[in-house]
Amino acid sequence: MRPALPFSYPGIAGDIDRLASQLRLLLDAAEWSAPDSVAILNLACGRADETGVLLSTAAPLAGRRFYLGIDLRAPEIAEAKRRWMATVSTGDEINFRCGDASRTDRMASLPAFDLIFIRHQNFWSDVPVWTRLYRNAIERMKDHGTLIITSYFDREHELASACLGQLGLHRVSEIRHFASRELPDAPGKSVDRWLAAFRKASI
Ligand SMILES: C[S@@+](CC[C@H](N)C(=O)[O-])C[C@H]1O[C@@H](n2cnc3c(N)ncnc32)[C@H](O)[C@@H]1O
Repeated sequence: MRPALPFSYPGIAGDIDRLASQLRLLLDAAEWSAPDSVAILNLACGRADETGVLLSTAAPLAGRRFYLGIDLRAPEIAEAKRRWMATVSTGDEINFRCGDASRTDRMASLPAFDLIFIRHQNFWSDVPVWTRLYRNAIERMKDHGTLIITSYFDREHELASACLGQLGLHRVSEIRHFASRELPDAPGKSVDRWLAAFRKASI
């Protein structure tokens, strides 16, 4: 699935290509297999630059793909809509919503999701909000569903993973992405530095 608009910044197209290959490895290691009718939720999605690779990597053959991205920031959601909503093909329903992704418990008419994706999760910026975001996301996930996070930083990835463990998930695969692009704004920060997939421990 190709974007209808070019990405906003130099470097993003390469990041997205690398994300696709890491995501494929992560999903294979997690023994992920998409159902024919798949529902994917992308939380705190920002511009949702990864929409195309997420759909084509996680559910290339699904007959029906429902995909929803949610973020607080209206300009990013507007950009995501411009980039991706024109590319919808038969069988796809792609939506973006401006809203609080930690309050999916209050959003009516959401389906149960097979895959929940949170790229560059930001757990340590507000632990109570992100704990609620994770808890409510898990409630929206099917029993055999998969939740994936990616992280910019080593420590933030550890903290978020520990929180997900306390909320009843277990990690089924994890990748330290050594070819991830270093970012100059903070030491030890790189694009999709870590990826991890989780499932309900009780299943
Ligand atoms: C580090 S950025 C990652 C954005 C995007 N996932 C990416 O990888 O490019 C964190 C995002 O979380 C969003 N965010 C933070 N708290 C949120 C909340 N409670 N509900 C929805 N979005 C939230 C911010 O608006 C921001 O877009």
